[in-house]
Amino acid sequence: MMSFIAVLFVFAGEIKENNNNYMHKRKLFNFDANEVVKPDACKECHSDIYKQWEKSTHSKAFIDPIWRAATKLFYSGPETTGQIPEMKLCIKCHIPLDFSFDITKFTDENYEELFNLHSQATYCNWCHNMNKAVYIGSSGINAETSPGGIYSSTILGPRKDPRSMDTSDDEKTKMHNTEYSEFYTKSEFCGLCHDMSELDNKLPIVQTYSEWKKSPYNTNDPKIARNCQDCHMRQLTGVPATGSTEKINNPGKAADNGPEREHVWTHYFAGGNSIIPKFLGGDIHSFLAIERLNNAATLEIIEDGIYEKGKKTQVKVKIINSGAGHYLPTGMTILRQMWLQVKITDKKGAEIYGSGKTDNKGNLEKNTIIYNTVLGDKNGKPTINIALADRILYDNRIPPKEYVIETHDFVIPENAVSPINVEATLKYRTVSPEVVEILMGDKAPHLPDNVKSLLSDKMSDLAIPFVDMTSMTKNIDFY
Ligand code: HEC
Ligand code: HEC
Ligand code: HEC
Ligand code: HEC
Ligand code: HEC
Repeated sequence: MMSFIAVLFVFAGEIKENNNNYMHKRKLFNFDANEVVKPDACKECHSDIYKQWEKSTHSKAFIDPIWRAATKLFYSGPETTGQIPEMKLCIKCHIPLDFSFDITKFTDENYEELFNLHSQATYCNWCHNMNKAVYIGSSGINAETSPGGIYSSTILGPRKDPRSMDTSDDEKTKMHNTEYSEFYTKSEFCGLCHDMSELDNKLPIVQTYSEWKKSPYNTNDPKIARNCQDCHMRQLTGVPATGSTEKINNPGKAADNGPEREHVWTHYFAGGNSIIPKFLGGDIHSFLAIERLNNAATLEIIEDGIYEKGKKTQVKVKIINSGAGHYLPTGMTILRQMWLQVKITDKKGAEIYGSGKTDNKGNLEKNTIIYNTVLGDKNGKPTINIALADRILYDNRIPPKEYVIETHDFVIPENAVSPINVEATLKYRTVSPEVVEILMGDKAPHLPDNVKSLLSDKMSDLAIPFVDMTSMTKNIDFY
């Protein structure tokens, strides 16, 4: 436990100190080069946006224990000249600033030193300094920055008319230089990191941007069009902002000293991951992720058979991706799992059929259809190590606005009482117990000490929870 706390402590302590210094000597329209890269330089005037970002997975991408365990595992696997650079790229999108300076320093032997980087993961000024995507896909982040580079004090953003309401004469206390860039309003911006293929063999791993690009949401028709920002930067508690809910504005101020705006873009960046934010103190973010999952899919139970005692019959369940602008699930789908749980009972409550149940360790029944991706190594054996992946063994997910139908067969027993009740629940979890075991269990010899000690007492918090996305019930009479 000690070592992890120490890392966090140093990290938090440093930020506080910077903040205090900053209060005294900030130069507004010309940020000091070392300050502009620290999110605390933005907190003072963008307090709401800062709070939203601070507990988001963007801000936690570097201390995320699942990421740490995965990178550590991957650092020890690769052997070939293709695989080695692959694993080194693991920090590229998760810690974009430090990537440029430190990528080559880390090997399997000095892995722990990686965590000495002063890092803020995906932070304000990194995002607000990009001007154009050079190339999307491959190993990610291939972009042109503003002319001043990453330390530039000119901040790029989506407003054509940014202004301060500060009436003092001192220009320097009003605000910083800004430059309008249309790039911020486009899905391509998010695609810089949310689209990744293997460097060596081009195997697609994270394909969220490509999935969106082919989707019906990528259109000029304003009634249907939604980009990443429309769904992920309009979300607030009670406003899930998915494809199946309304597109609602968030009126307020983008800066504490700025004017009232009809809509301010939010920075929670909630996805499906409710576990990591909760684990790292982001209760609202965890709640938002669940609210998002609750509005991602729709179910329909379809009668399709002759319902008679003693006869084999069936029901069908349609799962519609009604709310996600990409495949359901998307992103790191070698970790994520979605599945349907079906329970059929008679009028007395006696169970006639069940599927998709978990045992007390969280393992799914063998015949459950899982919506996820499984990678294989060069011998065709399943692997979660991206660096060793050579092929996709299984990819079963639902494209945006499309659906799948599952058929469930059963026999109505002679003593059953009509009607039967069919209950279908769509479930989701960030990571399965098998993968937690590989990444973080006793069988994970390469786990960094700081993650191991953090997890030992809280492991069950990470492994067990799953989210009920949506459910549906239907009564069917029989003879
Ligand atoms: C092109 C940018 C990019 C690169 C390079 C990259 N990642 Fe990621 N990673 C992402 C994005 C985007 C997500 C979020 C997707 C999601 O949440 O499903 C993510 C999520 C993850 C997660 C899930 C975290 C969680 O809490 O569930 C793990 C684990 C992970 N990455 C490991 C790795 C490893 C290991 C490597 C190196 C082989 C790597 N990443 C390289 C962009 C990248
Ligand atoms: C002294 C106050 C102050 C500080 C500190 C500050 N900002 Fe701002 N910022 C403003 C004001 C005022 C606006 C204009 C808001 C508006 O027009 O609604 C603004 C606008 C912006 C915009 C929108 C610009 C556009 O043209 O779209 C971005 C992006 C931004 N700031 C990012 C940052 C980042 C990143 C930091 C930290 C490195 C930061 N700001 C620090 C006051 C500040
Ligand atoms: C993952 C990248 C990313 C990060 C990290 C990020 N932003 Fe943004 N921000 C955006 C995008 C994209 C937009 C514009 C959305 C649009 O116009 O569609 C935006 C918009 C803004 C705006 C203008 C909002 C408005 O409605 O006028 C401000 C101000 C801002 N960001 C400040 C910040 C601050 C401060 C931080 C850190 C606490 C931060 N951003 C972190 C991507 C990011
Ligand atoms: C610099 C790279 C980068 C950029 C640019 C970026 N992201 Fe991310 N994003 C990540 C990484 C890395 C993670 C995963 C962090 C983790 O969990 O370890 C992530 C996580 C997320 C998540 C949460 C995923 C989950 O599983 O819950 C959402 C939602 C998200 N990003 C949306 C966006 C949107 C929308 C944009 C564009 C406005 C964007 N991102 C731009 C790197 C990036
Ligand atoms: C029409 C609304 C909509 C659009 C457009 C959209 N998303 Fe999502 N996104 C969702 C919903 C709903 C979820 C939760 C269900 C899920 O996990 O897929 C989600 C989940 C995610 C996740 C977490 C996946 C996981 O399970 O770990 C990431 C990462 C993400 N979105 C990124 C993006 C990016 C990047 C774009 C643009 C290329 C984008 N989204 C466009 C609605 C949308």
